[in-house]
Amino acid sequence: MSNLERINDAPTIDALDKLRVELLGRKSAISEGFAALKNAADKAQAAAELNRKKEELSNAIANRKAALESVELEAKTAKEAIDVTLFDFYDRGGSLHPINRAMEEIVEYFTGMNFEVKNGPLIDDEFHNFEALNLPKHHPAREMQDTFYMNDGMVLRTHTSNVQIHTMLAEKPPFRMIAPGAVFRRDYDLTHTPMFHQVEGLAVDEKGAISFANLKHILEDFLNSFFGDFPTRFRPSFFPFTEPSAEVDVGCIFCGGKGCRMCKNTGWLEVLGCGMVDPNVFKAVGYENVGGYAFGMGVERLATLKYRVGDLRSLYEGDLDLLEQFR
Ligand code: PHE
Repeated sequence: MSNLERINDAPTIDALDKLRVELLGRKSAISEGFAALKNAADKAQAAAELNRKKEELSNAIANRKAALESVELEAKTAKEAIDVTLFDFYDRGGSLHPINRAMEEIVEYFTGMNFEVKNGPLIDDEFHNFEALNLPKHHPAREMQDTFYMNDGMVLRTHTSNVQIHTMLAEKPPFRMIAPGAVFRRDYDLTHTPMFHQVEGLAVDEKGAISFANLKHILEDFLNSFFGDFPTRFRPSFFPFTEPSAEVDVGCIFCGGKGCRMCKNTGWLEVLGCGMVDPNVFKAVGYENVGGYAFGMGVERLATLKYRVGDLRSLYEGDLDLLEQFR
């Protein structure tokens, strides 16, 4: 193999370097040739010949080196490139929390039925949270709600019903509104957390335009769209701000109504409260000659039933293994 061939065959930059030392270094034939020049017969010609050889080898080495470097660079970039297809470990993606998911589903149903979304303050005065809702001071019904009282006479709203009052004071009927949001009560067990969510509903129109049948229809239709095809029943109940009032049950989605632990052997699951707006509420906001209905539902209650979560508190622990099951 000629020296030029050896250069062009050098497999690596290291090997090429060794070759350069061998061919052009102090102990190379060429260096020795230069050293021997002083004894040469025809100095000029011998020197020219040595220089030509030296240059030829140097050029070949430089070319080979450039070629090897570009191959090495390519290999390096290929190795260091981020392979975006490699793992999906970081690609778990986000998902809605089951409470938000249930909330969105509820809101979507009612906005589809022409209800407008309203919001109200989480910290409110007793007028909006209680008094205007026909819950005067010292009324025993206030005890139903374990209120968080603030120092300045304000309360953490115990229900989204305060938004009924804010909306009625700000708007003229007719309207249909829903108010989704957080509410607060001093409660903590398998099915209660101190902060939870409700969706309030309120429809107001001129007297006689809205009936209990309208209320019954929309809630039945909502429950069928949320839980599927289960029976519903309206039980007479009491709320200070509605008259008549009802609690609504859905046929137990766990046992199909036969009776089980989840429905406490009744075959029914209580899911929301509702009624026709009490005249005293209209009086408190200065409305005359109107009528309407109101309802309120607990989002956690609906979500834990629908997604069959035993302990509500587990949804608030940020447990990814649990939450990922709802993707
Ligand atoms: N505010 C009631 C509660 O928190 C629910 C409700 C709202 C009932 C509107 C009737 C009408 O329990």
